[in-house]
Amino acid sequence: MTEKEILDLDRKHIWHPCSQMKEYEEFPAIPIKRGEGVWLYKENGDKILDAVSSWWVNIFGHSAEYIANKIAEQARTLEHVIFANYTHEPAVKLGAYLSGLFDGKLPRIFYGDNGSSGIEIALKMSYHYRVNNGDKKRKKFMYITGGYHGETVGALSVGSIEIFKEVYKPMLFNAIECRGPDCYRCPFGKNYTNCDAECFALAEKLIKKNYISVTAFIIEPMVQCAAGMKIYSPRYLQKLRAACSEYGIHLICDEIAVGFGRTGKMVASQHAGIVPDLAAVSKGLTGGFLPLSAVLVKEEIYMNFYDSYPSNKAFLHSHSYSGNPLACAAACAVFELFEKDDVLSMINEKGAYIKEKISVLKDNKYIGDIRSIGMITAVEIVKDKITKEPFESSMRIGRAIYREAEKKGVLLRNIGDVIYFMPPYIINRDEMDFMVKVAIDAILDRLNKII
Ligand SMILES: Cc1ncc(COP(=O)(O)O)c(C=O)c1O
Repeated sequence: MTEKEILDLDRKHIWHPCSQMKEYEEFPAIPIKRGEGVWLYKENGDKILDAVSSWWVNIFGHSAEYIANKIAEQARTLEHVIFANYTHEPAVKLGAYLSGLFDGKLPRIFYGDNGSSGIEIALKMSYHYRVNNGDKKRKKFMYITGGYHGETVGALSVGSIEIFKEVYKPMLFNAIECRGPDCYRCPFGKNYTNCDAECFALAEKLIKKNYISVTAFIIEPMVQCAAGMKIYSPRYLQKLRAACSEYGIHLICDEIAVGFGRTGKMVASQHAGIVPDLAAVSKGLTGGFLPLSAVLVKEEIYMNFYDSYPSNKAFLHSHSYSGNPLACAAACAVFELFEKDDVLSMINEKGAYIKEKISVLKDNKYIGDIRSIGMITAVEIVKDKITKEPFESSMRIGRAIYREAEKKGVLLRNIGDVIYFMPPYIINRDEMDFMVKVAIDAILDRLNKII
């Protein structure tokens, strides 16, 4: 197909995610022909550096040969089989790998087929556990401001980002929102690298008040990505873990965006040394090749469902593609790549390099914050550096920077006026230099136009 033919069909049939389709009149979708490493090659031959790992999923580069070969091998052997009453090597091998993520303390693995389905599974499991125990009161969930857990109805109900949630509120279930950490604008004037998570007092108060009716508390450990790469203190997680244990609430850690090395540890909960009762992983799990999620569960929760069939305690949740062998083979390949090299040290070194390079912007009067953890670095642009007041959202400053960077060869994506880097881990020094230079040029280009 020619580029024009692709675009014509795209315009005619395709409804793109997270998009106002009218804007495609001015900025049509960009047809991509192939990917290699950090690069996406357009149909017209130009290339663009994927600084956001294609929605945070790619970790070892596009079309990484090792993973591609394992999928191809698996496709020639067994592409799929119903996962109820049947099993296969890639799924059990992956189950063993996954149970190692929390030192064997979450040994039971339930597969879903994307991040949101993983969250639905975790929520249903926690609630069903209460039903199995005859505890009719605990049916609510708690979450914190800035939390994001996906777009399906359950996941949206426990998410807090208004722009995604607002329209659907009448169809969502009631959950309890706690004021969470907001470290750049900390009301206690503290810094997340050395505070004692004083802000947890607000959540603790709500937990104490409501715990009788709460089954689970869900949180993204260490970084609220969709909220603008908001990094917070591990102390917050430690205090939350302690409170959940004290009040009999399940702690669900959503490791979907931050797991698999993204924060410089295999799972972000490790920064706080905590183990949740349930954890959801997805995205980097298959290296960005195929949709798959997994919910990792404590033995005690698993055993709560384990009974004779007539007891009605079984977790009768399923997806057609549960435990898909191709996705499981890709995920096993990802674990093998982590075993082969010291990937985590590499992530931390490269992340520090990116932060150092972008920090030349720190004295600019509109750069409010530059924050970083592992392979996530974010720059928050503000109207007033002293008051931290943001620009009017209608100015769409971040969006203009995204567009400008794209013209210069880097796929950046903004979250409001937060510009962030979340590239595949295999990015090399020249590529990091290019990525950061384009970002700096695009940021200054837009900021210099402000009068
Ligand atoms: C923390 C977190 N949880 C859940 C999800 C939902 O995953 P998916 O988009 O695969 O449904 C996302 C997606 O960005 C996420 O960042």
